[in-house]
Amino acid sequence: MEENKDLKSFSMPRIGDKAPEFRAVTTQGNIHFPNDYIGKWVILFSHPADFTPVCTSEFMTFSKMESDFNKANCDLVGLSVDGLYSHIAWLRTIKEKIQYKGMKDMEVKFPLIEDIKMDVANKYGMIQPGEDNTKAVRAVFYVDPHGIIRTIIYYPLSLGRNFDEIYRVLIALQTADKFSVATPADWRPGDEVIVPPAGSCGVAKDRMENEDENVHCYDWFFCTKKLDKEEIFKSILKK
Ligand code: BEZ
Repeated sequence: MEENKDLKSFSMPRIGDKAPEFRAVTTQGNIHFPNDYIGKWVILFSHPADFTPVCTSEFMTFSKMESDFNKANCDLVGLSVDGLYSHIAWLRTIKEKIQYKGMKDMEVKFPLIEDIKMDVANKYGMIQPGEDNTKAVRAVFYVDPHGIIRTIIYYPLSLGRNFDEIYRVLIALQTADKFSVATPADWRPGDEVIVPPAGSCGVAKDRMENEDENVHCYDWFFCTKKLDKEEIFKSILKK
């Protein structure tokens, strides 16, 4: 049977997978992903197109928050299927001309990947034909210091991302790793955390019977403890 040469292969990486490897040209030089980021967290995110309003509001917000992500040992890497010169012109326009919600003179310092052939976008399942055949959706991949995908969030083209949530997820993942806990619904640093992580119910039953004063059990399968915001940030954030 003759192979359809127009049919591009695509994949959908999953949580727990090793982040698919690629080399790419970016606004900050060439990168080899995830190899260049081993030892750090990295958020790889896609946007549909340069010179569009929702993406512009997102890039300005990411740029405003970049130092917060960096303090949590996390780098940002953006991607769209536009070319390098479009990226450069768009980022220059943002810096020189756009004032939005008190943000102005915003310089995007993190790399923005050019992906005209959609190689990376297809590898990461960022092209979702039901939404658009030629633009990436707003995907967010959290890759840990070992190069493992830990969280994936997808938004459609019309919906700008919530950056408080994007930061909250990073801190929650790091808190879970550092303190061997899980985080309940709507958790924010300073709220109680769940001990032990879901799935270790036998340990929770022991805890309940031992009446550990730091632990509050709602039932044998649902125990929480206090974890101070200061303790979390002291162990996670760079000085
Ligand atoms: C935007 O960023 O404004 C946008 C991009 C593609 C489709 C719809 C909106």
